[in-house]
Amino acid sequence: MAEGALLAVSNLQVWYGESHILHGVAFEVRAGEVVTLLGRNGAGKTTTLKAIMGIVARRSGSVRFENRELIGRASNEIARAGIAFCPEERGIFASLDVEENLLLPPQVRPGGLTLPAIYELFPNIKERLTSQGTKLSGGEQQMLAIGRILRTGARLLLLDEPTEGLAPVIIQQIGKTIRTLKERGFTILLVEQNFRFAATVADRYYVMEHGRVIDRFSNSDLDANIGKLHEYLGV
Ligand SMILES: Nc1ncnc2c1ncn2[C@@H]1O[C@H](COP(=O)(O)OP(=O)(O)OP(=O)(O)O)[C@@H](O)[C@H]1O
Ligand SMILES: [Mg+2]
Repeated sequence: MAEGALLAVSNLQVWYGESHILHGVAFEVRAGEVVTLLGRNGAGKTTTLKAIMGIVARRSGSVRFENRELIGRASNEIARAGIAFCPEERGIFASLDVEENLLLPPQVRPGGLTLPAIYELFPNIKERLTSQGTKLSGGEQQMLAIGRILRTGARLLLLDEPTEGLAPVIIQQIGKTIRTLKERGFTILLVEQNFRFAATVADRYYVMEHGRVIDRFSNSDLDANIGKLHEYLGV
């Protein structure tokens, strides 16, 4: 493992039943970085995040966080180690209001954001405190889903396609939030298909295809890699 990695994934394999989905995924995230996993539909990006969280049926290989091995640990232990996952489907409870949704995930470590600090980051959410989950727009739901995991005290945030289906102005707000979180010392592993958005927040990229990492580059090399990226992502 490289010196100084907060998260180091190597030879990660995942199976869903008989289907072998990840074939030796390897990458690392250093403390304070925003790292983006890019790749087409079905490349294995979400499966990689779920495997880190321990919410896939069968996995092997190594996922080291703060130099501790997470493979073999239960998902609640992994959460308590200080990793939080914001899923693609956002997971907002329709029958709960905004504040109830915010209070749902348990605090796993000291140092999580307070509710006022979360409202400061997401003023739109503050205006909607007593609204039910279902009444929120897609953008509000996404902000609530991110805000919610900031309370937990996790220092590594796994964000799965936070911009999916959102209007450009909301996407910009989410980009600003991610940059603020980085400034405050959070480490972020982001899954994106929208590399134009990713370019506004990411330090480095890994490209996935068919359950493997097939390329990697830093943000400063993005321009030089744009042709290859179009090919990888089919855009
Ligand atoms: N629960 C599951 N059971 C069986 N196969 C699954 C399951 N979840 C995902 N897969 C398969 O695993 C592969 C990787 O899926 P995954 O969701 O990780 O891709 P992704 O890169 O996140 O794609 P997308 O961009 O569409 O979100 C796909 O072939 C998918 O069909
Ligand atoms: Mg996905």
